[in-house]
Amino acid sequence: MSHISIAIDGPAAAGKSTIAKRVAKKLGFLYIDTGAMYRAVTLYVLEHGDDIIKDIASHIHITFGINDEVYLNNKDVSKEIRSPEVTNNVSRVAAAGEVRTYLVDMQREISRTSSVVMDGRDIGTTVLPDADLKVFMMASPEVRAERRLLEETARGNNIDLATLTAEIIRRDEIDSTREISPLVQAHDAVLLDTSQLSIEEAEAKIIQLAEDKLEVQ
Ligand code: CDP
Ligand code: CDP
Repeated sequence: MSHISIAIDGPAAAGKSTIAKRVAKKLGFLYIDTGAMYRAVTLYVLEHGDDIIKDIASHIHITFGINDEVYLNNKDVSKEIRSPEVTNNVSRVAAAGEVRTYLVDMQREISRTSSVVMDGRDIGTTVLPDADLKVFMMASPEVRAERRLLEETARGNNIDLATLTAEIIRRDEIDSTREISPLVQAHDAVLLDTSQLSIEEAEAKIIQLAEDKLEVQ
């Protein structure tokens, strides 16, 4: 049986994971949050030191639960991987070749056995260059920072808009300029600007693209 893959890439807080998850549910595909994998590796590196990076594959086992919980060596780390410390270090750890090789292999393996909606930074360019549908999702930095502010406030974190904007711009910069598989729109990806779109509207656009391009209903 052949499997379908949908790749959703873009910068921080463009809406990738929220919308990818909904699209996957609607189509009955597996949702894979590759950012969560880089975050789990970063958590491990923060606990064990940078030297562990060169041998990361032999130390780490990452799995997902049925509600998209993230397990690192069989421990649910879904909350810890969203901490400010992980967020501030993830782009640095994700730039390491050993980390990317390990996770990209894992991501490709998952797509060999299931139809997937996978979101990240390099899915359409590197992980699944033959994906059946590629979407590059973006939104203005101001809109993205406002979205993160709402999330942080809901989590009870007291952080201001200027700090969040600076953090998003800094992470975009590192992700876009790194040597190995930087964040860039694939030449055959459809650009989707979600700045003025609700979650429902953005989801409907991707479902429409999937119905037009793939044989899914
Ligand atoms: O959700 P948010 O936009 O904060 O980011 P994420 O998707 O959780 O990804 C966290 C970080 O992981 C990104 O800023 C990238 O540095 C890295 N990442 C990557 O390098 N390649 C991917 N395919 C996914 C994430
Ligand atoms: O995965 P990524 O970092 O690209 O973004 P996300 O975590 O899915 O979305 C960041 C926040 O923006 C979430 O709180 C979403 O609910 C919100 N969002 C929105 O308000 N409108 C959209 N069209 C998309 C996302």
